[in-house]
Amino acid sequence: MSSFIINGGKILNGKVAVSGAKNSALKIMAASILGSSKVILENIPDIEDVNTMVQVLKTLDAEVKFDRGKNILEINSSAIDSYEAPYELVRKMRASVLVAGPLLSRFGRVKVAVPGGCNIGARQIDLHLKGFEALGASNSIEHGYVISSAGKNTKGCAGTGAHRLTGANINLDFPSRGATENLMMAAVLAKGETTINNAAREAEIIDLADFLISMGADISGVGTDCIKIRGVKKLAGTKYRIMPDSIEAGTFVVAAALCGGIVEIADAIWKNLEIFCLKIKETGIDINRTSDNTIIIKKTAKKLKPVYISTLPYPGFPTDLQPVIAVLLSTAPGISIITENVFENRFMYVEELNRMGANIKIDGHHAVINGVDRLSGAPVKAFDLRAGAAMVLAGLAAEGVTEVYDIYHINRGYERFEKKLGSLGADIKLVNQTDMNV
Ligand code: UD1
Repeated sequence: MSSFIINGGKILNGKVAVSGAKNSALKIMAASILGSSKVILENIPDIEDVNTMVQVLKTLDAEVKFDRGKNILEINSSAIDSYEAPYELVRKMRASVLVAGPLLSRFGRVKVAVPGGCNIGARQIDLHLKGFEALGASNSIEHGYVISSAGKNTKGCAGTGAHRLTGANINLDFPSRGATENLMMAAVLAKGETTINNAAREAEIIDLADFLISMGADISGVGTDCIKIRGVKKLAGTKYRIMPDSIEAGTFVVAAALCGGIVEIADAIWKNLEIFCLKIKETGIDINRTSDNTIIIKKTAKKLKPVYISTLPYPGFPTDLQPVIAVLLSTAPGISIITENVFENRFMYVEELNRMGANIKIDGHHAVINGVDRLSGAPVKAFDLRAGAAMVLAGLAAEGVTEVYDIYHINRGYERFEKKLGSLGADIKLVNQTDMNV
């Protein structure tokens, strides 16, 4: 068990660079299953979720080499001889279910543990499964696993190519990112054309499509709500660089807004974060960009203004930055309101933030934030990845010492978080339980 100990109130200054995007890297790693030869991925973040996806791929018998120092990952899927994502790994990381689309597409069968609920909501995979069915697969749920196979043969057709999925018209009830990604990967080797209507439009979807196109896939319309995929017979290995992580960039924006100084955030793509950056501007923070994808935040002498926020799929306000911006709004005088529309259980962190002196009331899927003058340090718990990052930001801004527990959640998605914050002047230390026993 490790924790972060933060001595709050330090001013942040300087430049920090954003790592590769977690939510792009994980999907592109899964998509590497589709390649008949070696895939080389650059800018892979050295985070726990990537380690879990490495384990998933190894379980499937792929060869994987991760050069952490260089952030380069090599995946060779030519020896894959297993089609099962086991419960231990899916339980650890839901994104493990993203191997289903590529396995079904390439080998005609997959067995993947049904992910349960998680700390931010129920998070079903019904849209993924309905889409597989539309592409001609049959799904059954047995002993906690979904078994999908192309055609009627439930034993599947590993390696023979005898059963291929068939292109179809798919209408998603909700622009789910995971479903869009899984179905795009399932359709690339299907026979004929697939259209995904009401598709997700996030930049990570475009990154995944660009990766698949570099392997030889035929995809158009990404970035719109209608994606067209014309199936091809084979995809080859490739070399690809993962896009930078927008949520990490947004996290540093809020850290700087709370504690700058002048902070420059390199590899922060404004277009992917536009509505978030505009909301930050609306609070009165001085936020600007340069032509080389750097965002610059300057502390303003003026009092912050409250704002209203509604989370929505892209291009709406990203739900992943909801807990993070709540910390900033908890110190903006007046009433701010956040409406969470994507996940039903994403305000778990509020009780912890209130223990640090914030004044936030939850009413259904709305948070009513009454800004306070200051937060005060306290021992707090990270409920999930982004809630954990929010606790760290609150600790940076708070008076006194904050200890954030359960930081394994944070390590799932932030590379060298405490080191990057430390390089800007934050007083944050990683403490391992063993250190405390000495
Ligand atoms: C991804 C991101 C996550 C982000 C979320 C929303 C990854 C690894 N995770 O998660 O960080 O918060 O997008 O931007 O990329 N839903 C269903 N049935 C389905 C699929 C989804 O009801 O089959 C619901 C979910 O319960 C949720 C909503 O749709 O309420 C959005 O889910 P989705 O966009 O699929 O999120 P993920 O891909 O799981």
